[in-house]
Amino acid sequence: MIKKILIVAGIISTHFLHAQTRDAKSDSYRMKVYVDALMKKMTLDEKIGQLNLLNPGGGVATGAVVSSNVETKIKAGNVGGLFGVIGVDKIRRAQELAVNGSRLHIPLIFGSDVIHGYKTTFPIPLGLSCSWDTVMIERSARIAGTEASADGLSWVFSPMVDIARDPRWGRIAEGAGEDTYLGSKVAAAMVRGYQGNDLSAKNTVMACVKHYALYGAAEAGRDYNTTDMSRIKMYEYYLPPYKAAVDAGAGSVMSSFNEVDGIPASANKFLMTDVLRKQWDFKGFVVTDYTAINEMIEHGMGDLKTVSALALNAGIDMDMVGEGFLTTLKKSLTEKKVTLQQIETACRRILEAKYKLGLFDDPYRYCDSSRARKEVLSIDKRQSAREFAEHSFVLLKNNNQTLPLKKSGTIALIGPLANNKNNMLGTWAVSGDAQLSITVLDGIKNIIGSDVNILYAKGANISDDTSLAKKANVFGEKVDIDNRSPQELINEAVITANNADVIVAVIGEASEMSGESASRSDIGLPTSQKELLKALSKTGKPLVLVIMSGRPLTLPWESEIATSILQVWFPGHEAGNAIADVLFGNYNPSGKTTISFPRNVGQIPIYYNHKNTGRPLKGDVWQKFRSDYLDVANSPLYPFGFGLSYTTFSYEDVRVSTNNPKGNQSITATAKVTNTGKYAGEEVVQLYISDPVASVTRSVKDLRGFKKIMLQRGESKDVTFTITTEDLKFYNTGLHHVWEPGEFIIQIGTNSQDVKSVKLNWTK
Ligand code: NOJ
Repeated sequence: MIKKILIVAGIISTHFLHAQTRDAKSDSYRMKVYVDALMKKMTLDEKIGQLNLLNPGGGVATGAVVSSNVETKIKAGNVGGLFGVIGVDKIRRAQELAVNGSRLHIPLIFGSDVIHGYKTTFPIPLGLSCSWDTVMIERSARIAGTEASADGLSWVFSPMVDIARDPRWGRIAEGAGEDTYLGSKVAAAMVRGYQGNDLSAKNTVMACVKHYALYGAAEAGRDYNTTDMSRIKMYEYYLPPYKAAVDAGAGSVMSSFNEVDGIPASANKFLMTDVLRKQWDFKGFVVTDYTAINEMIEHGMGDLKTVSALALNAGIDMDMVGEGFLTTLKKSLTEKKVTLQQIETACRRILEAKYKLGLFDDPYRYCDSSRARKEVLSIDKRQSAREFAEHSFVLLKNNNQTLPLKKSGTIALIGPLANNKNNMLGTWAVSGDAQLSITVLDGIKNIIGSDVNILYAKGANISDDTSLAKKANVFGEKVDIDNRSPQELINEAVITANNADVIVAVIGEASEMSGESASRSDIGLPTSQKELLKALSKTGKPLVLVIMSGRPLTLPWESEIATSILQVWFPGHEAGNAIADVLFGNYNPSGKTTISFPRNVGQIPIYYNHKNTGRPLKGDVWQKFRSDYLDVANSPLYPFGFGLSYTTFSYEDVRVSTNNPKGNQSITATAKVTNTGKYAGEEVVQLYISDPVASVTRSVKDLRGFKKIMLQRGESKDVTFTITTEDLKFYNTGLHHVWEPGEFIIQIGTNSQDVKSVKLNWTK
């Protein structure tokens, strides 16, 4: 009987699969017929018009140029899409211009930088990644996509999947950190979240994977700077997250500003055609970053006509803001620098995106103002924002179990970010209203009972440096310099601290001290805040640091003087509530840092999966003629994957199903993890693999799995990972993805440094 059901189920599912493939085929056939017919009616100018993406201004412009005469251009069929238009009514009006005013009534696509939430703002992506919870991250993208689509948008410039190993680079805040494996999982989760199963559904949006490629490897951490790396490193560590996003079905890709191998990404045929189209089979469209085609003039690639032709030849479909395509492609066509087929292919890809989004069916699909009223900034989204923020915090230190705080006694809440709304959202929150943020002071007041007395003092400016303040304040006041002198602020803070049982200092960077065009050469706390901490530490009271920043800061001294450190990145709208929840133990922190914390800037780039070298340092004590420094240890202050909990976990009995696997067999690796502390808590169990001998040098270890588990007090669980030969693979000198038989070291642990290992010998 059971067998019969299984057979029937088998038949049904195969049948269903065939039906699905047929459907997908007929869908794409229908799309082809539709687009063919439309393109037959289009003039060359109209085809080139589709390749033009404009920003009418009014929102946040991230380059020097904003577009002019947008209305006229839309009516003339010279525009394919707009971004930076926020609000369902404005979008509807712009869509009406295209649909009623242009000859062929082709709808526009509307995009925006929805990076960590739309109007409801979630933690910055670096923070979200520290949850290691890809289901939650997918949900955050789903909610952001739902909210954005309710407000008229159909296209989001996210996910940003650039691997970054240099925290001087301000945009490290926008990605998932230093690791390729985790970064790839996050990339795919976000694409699934935005796009759902059906791009034409009213509550899904098209994702745009960026910044392709290698943007996070800018030399010296200076934004837009040159990148240069070997193909092996590129394929092994930098390209996989973009590929993972493409494999997850991302509808579009954004080219990056930087050059790769001497050719700016937007003219780079190897990236745009050989890898993206031929190797990865990407079917969507590629848009440049903001004026990236024009910027190739400064790169030294030629005049606007030349660089626009180079971009089209390389495989770029849409030109963001620069209008090089619009103004020069026709001429290049007559000069035979580009072909009609290239223009038509690009135009087709953009029309197909509009088709997939259902815009030809109904151009106002995403323009339902009743939906906007109901869904934008709804209470449930704020609740999710609180949950996401709590999960993104990383507890770096907690001496004497100072945290969680008792719900009694007097707390001195001190610091320039303690009662501050302007900085809670972090970078790239272009649609988020900072004034809707919950401050830490309010968050604490919201949850403490009458037994806690809370005292507040600002204590310091984020920075006293007026020139820095001016740079951080380009989008509004983030660094406000108090009328009182720095000493007066400190004096008040010390008096406040002396009247309390414990100090909670909320300190760090202003939100615009990270993000685009916000690189720093010194990533320590600004001097004003160091002075404050010096004075506070002299009081002898327990000192809890709550650190907000868009990057790991260098904190060697702070980590000595602080009793506890909670790294909260930029938590978004619900900052104060989430921080209060964690400080008082309503939520037990479970985040693990996805980026190594350097001890000083000289260690950068510092990342866990470095190579061994021929003279590796064993341990962390200096030795002559070893690869090390005279003035600092090799190890980071806090390693990749590190994060404490209010409880403790032990790892025992790490074992594999066989020590002698053969061929393509899959094996399991298991560890017994026990909650040995006083609270229930979540733990991110991490699997690393080392390949000590191979035909090319390998990193000392690479993450190959992780599982987030919940354990009650005293509870143990066996956590099992399946390992296949896919997990052993690497790119060899021929750029083939291979595994080679021999010894492998399987490691399971609580962070990249603290692991237990088993050796095995895997033969062919
Ligand atoms: C420049 C940024 O690099 C990119 O991330 C963003 O999507 C565009 N500007 C559009 O705002």
